[in-house]
Amino acid sequence: MDELVFARVLHVLGVVLWIGGVAMVTTVLLPTLARMPSAIEAMAFFEQFRRRFAAQARISTLFVGVTGFYMVYVLDAWQRFTQWQYWWMHTMVFIWLLFSFMLFVMEPRGRRQQAQAPAQTNISADTFAIIQRKHLKLLLLSLLTIAGAVAGSHGWLISGN
Ligand code: HEM
Repeated sequence: MDELVFARVLHVLGVVLWIGGVAMVTTVLLPTLARMPSAIEAMAFFEQFRRRFAAQARISTLFVGVTGFYMVYVLDAWQRFTQWQYWWMHTMVFIWLLFSFMLFVMEPRGRRQQAQAPAQTNISADTFAIIQRKHLKLLLLSLLTIAGAVAGSHGWLISGN
């Protein structure tokens, strides 16, 4: 059982680093950038920031995925994916897949395209508002999932199952 506890600790630490970063970007960084006088300079800063965060988030997502599936295996909890009371198991995997796709496929692709194309000039404060809205949706879904996962893991399931 010690291995399960250890996996749980690493799982939660990975979640904190990763979703905590998403929260900071959404609620602090993006609103600040939207108010900067030069949207082009703000975007250049954001791109650098995002690249660095993506490198860290890639490691956290790997930790979360490996420890998550390890726990499913040790708990032999595969059947939960067929029960709606464990909706938070589905959303955990969904969020993980979504972020993994963005971090391992979209982000490197965007970086390659940016290296080839000239700097964009059609950037405005609205660009940051759009990016912020997308981040906010992901953040809210992540927070809901974290709440459901903590409650569910500790026995608080809908319909008392
Ligand atoms: C491949 C993706 C993932 C898998 C397979 C997975 C699997 C698991 C499993 C099996 C547990 C333990 C459940 C139990 O003890 O009954 C767990 C707990 C938890 N997971 Fe995930 N998870 C994944 C991704 C995520 C993500 C993306 C988040 C955050 C958005 C997350 C947040 C949590 C939290 C907060 C707990 C509760 C820890 C506790 O209070 O003990 N997981 N996860």
